[in-house]
Amino acid sequence: MTFRRGVLIVLEGVDRAGKSTQCARLVQALQQNGRRAEIIRFPDRTTQIGQLISSYLEKKSNLEDHTVHLLFSANRWELVPLIREKLEQGINLVVDRYAFSGVAFTSAKPGFSLDWCKQPDVGLPKPDLVMFLQLSPEVAAQRGQFGAERYEISSFQQTVQQRFEEIRNDTSINWKVIDASRSIEEVHTDIKSASEKTIDVAQHLPVGELWR
Ligand code: TMP
Ligand code: MG
Repeated sequence: MTFRRGVLIVLEGVDRAGKSTQCARLVQALQQNGRRAEIIRFPDRTTQIGQLISSYLEKKSNLEDHTVHLLFSANRWELVPLIREKLEQGINLVVDRYAFSGVAFTSAKPGFSLDWCKQPDVGLPKPDLVMFLQLSPEVAAQRGQFGAERYEISSFQQTVQQRFEEIRNDTSINWKVIDASRSIEEVHTDIKSASEKTIDVAQHLPVGELWR
């Protein structure tokens, strides 16, 4: 049997679009089909850098805006050796947020260009597929109130949504927009089928480099 690497699948989207639920369902479905699969989420709050980020998000500490952007990126880079190792072992990785959230959230702040925001993440392992869970702010609002974390403010999230739209114009990325207003099952069916198709193709190709 020829060797097959794992593929890197990212789920992005606005808050309450169902990313975490769908990541868990996808990993379960891939495993049921006899594939190896694991979840990774960013920020990974368990590392030292992740703890600085978590404390910032919980508003227990303040960080300068460029600084926190670089910490979010550093939090991805510190997991790159692990990501590469897993992919080489043939483990498919389902990632809950990645550099696209990094760019969308920081560039929603005044004075940050998309280009500046992308630079620290240039060269990260490139996802084989990025699924954007699309949900209108109105429908998202019906799914419950925001919590108390730093970016959970409607006006800010609207700007984040616009930034995601701009980021999705980047044709170097294999984007798939998923209508997240449907039932968990319907959304899952789409995500699973897009993931299976990507695995069939990408498992034979080398891992790319993001934005390079
Ligand atoms: P979470 O709710 O998925 O744990 O994400 C925490 C918050 O961090 C969420 O508001 C999105 C934001 N974020 C960034 O600002 N930059 C990043 O690079 C990432 C991954 C998340
Ligand atoms: Mg959150």
